[in-house]
Amino acid sequence: MSNYDIKDINQAEGGRRRIDWAEREMPVLRSIRERFSKEKPLKGLRVSACLHVTTETANLMRTLHEGGADIVLTASNPLSTQDDVAAALVNQYEIPTFAIKGEDNVTYYKHIRAALEHKPHMTMDDGADLVSSLFFIEMGRFEKLEPSLAAWARGLSDDERKELLKGVIGGTEETTTGVIRLKAMEADNVLKFPVIAVNDALTKHLFDNRYGTGQSTIDGIIRATNVLLAGKNFVVSGYGWCGRGLASRARGMGALVIVTEVDPMKALEAIMDGYQVMPMGEAAQLGDFFCTVTGDINVIDEQHFKAMKDGAIVANSGHFNVEINIPALEKMSVGAPNLVRPFVDQYTTKDGRKINILGEGRLINLASAEGHPASVMDMSFANQALSAEYMAKNADTLEKKVYSVPVDIDKEIARLKLEAMGVKIDTLTDDQLKYLSSWEEGT
Ligand SMILES: NC(=O)c1ccc[n+]([C@@H]2O[C@H](COP(=O)([O-])OP(=O)(O)OC[C@H]3O[C@@H](n4cnc5c(N)ncnc54)[C@H](O)[C@@H]3O)[C@@H](O)[C@H]2O)c1
Repeated sequence: MSNYDIKDINQAEGGRRRIDWAEREMPVLRSIRERFSKEKPLKGLRVSACLHVTTETANLMRTLHEGGADIVLTASNPLSTQDDVAAALVNQYEIPTFAIKGEDNVTYYKHIRAALEHKPHMTMDDGADLVSSLFFIEMGRFEKLEPSLAAWARGLSDDERKELLKGVIGGTEETTTGVIRLKAMEADNVLKFPVIAVNDALTKHLFDNRYGTGQSTIDGIIRATNVLLAGKNFVVSGYGWCGRGLASRARGMGALVIVTEVDPMKALEAIMDGYQVMPMGEAAQLGDFFCTVTGDINVIDEQHFKAMKDGAIVANSGHFNVEINIPALEKMSVGAPNLVRPFVDQYTTKDGRKINILGEGRLINLASAEGHPASVMDMSFANQALSAEYMAKNADTLEKKVYSVPVDIDKEIARLKLEAMGVKIDTLTDDQLKYLSSWEEGT
């Protein structure tokens, strides 16, 4: 394989301009890049990154590159790549990139293979597809791999397979679903190196998952459909960090928001935030729009499709395309779906209703829009860059576990972000410090 696989290198100039545009909103990452270019904390490290190939990711790649890392970038979702950005990464920043928007599963895993062949010292994942592929190969569990990746892995000798893993000192993980998978690996004793759960940093999920997913998911649904949200019933499945953001932004657009949940605490919170809460079985009959953000499987299933109104619009913004049971809808439908607009597959059920699935059930904010705005990715990717630096310095003291981002890093990112926004805050006085650490003062 050559050292990149992208759609069209001629799109590079447009990509570079958009990367520059995003950079303006990423002051924290920019300041890290300036320091990295002097200190080179990642010098000599091969990094394989499996991330959404967006303008913000390009700025992270530039930062790691300035820090001395030798990087290969591959997509973490077949529909999330911005082809002009991939072109600019290759052409302008000399970062080998393997990502094409709309690539099929075989190409997606051919690209993951390129990341593996880079023999990384460090992995950087969004959803844990890279590390899980690495572990399945090392364990000889080829049946769990995409068939062409399995064929390649079967062709490697035992030594070559072990070699893939040998040099890895650690990794980082960007999203909730990836962290859940990694914690399951740790529990099953198959995690082979330490991984930092970037998602668990407060400066990541409080802002990226909530405000980033909230805004960009609405943006994706509107770009795909151009349907008015005001006055419509908008069903949000999952009231976690992403769900809270999405519900509040849908309400901001005038939609009547219904939340479905399985966790009583989250359901209670949604009620007190002023939303209707009900099971999906009931919400299915009412919704004009549906969007899942649970990280769970078959949240919208056959019985829900049966109850939906004619014209319902159904999307997902959770990590994998398993939240909506599209195969069940296919079975209930007459013929193949019609692509009635880009990213809108219209299914006709046997009883004559039209159900619209957006972006093939893949995360809609990246499929039909541009993903999170740069300002929140500034903090998420500052966490990635500083976690990579931390891993480079401390990997030999860490165990094969999932670690949180060190609190000092998290707080420093918040401080830098406020500073960049020109926002000042108070500091505790000596009296206050004393009072807050004492138990002696009472009524
Ligand atoms: N689109 C994006 O750009 C983007 C960004 C960040 C995270 N994510 C992904 O979004 C998903 C959610 O992330 P999060 O940080 O909000 O997670 P979270 O754990 O904070 O929230 C998930 C919520 O879904 C609920 N849930 C689980 N199964 C359910 C079901 N069957 N019905 C209703 N609710 C159910 C859980 O109780 C929980 O409250 C993950 O897959 C994550 O990786 C996507």
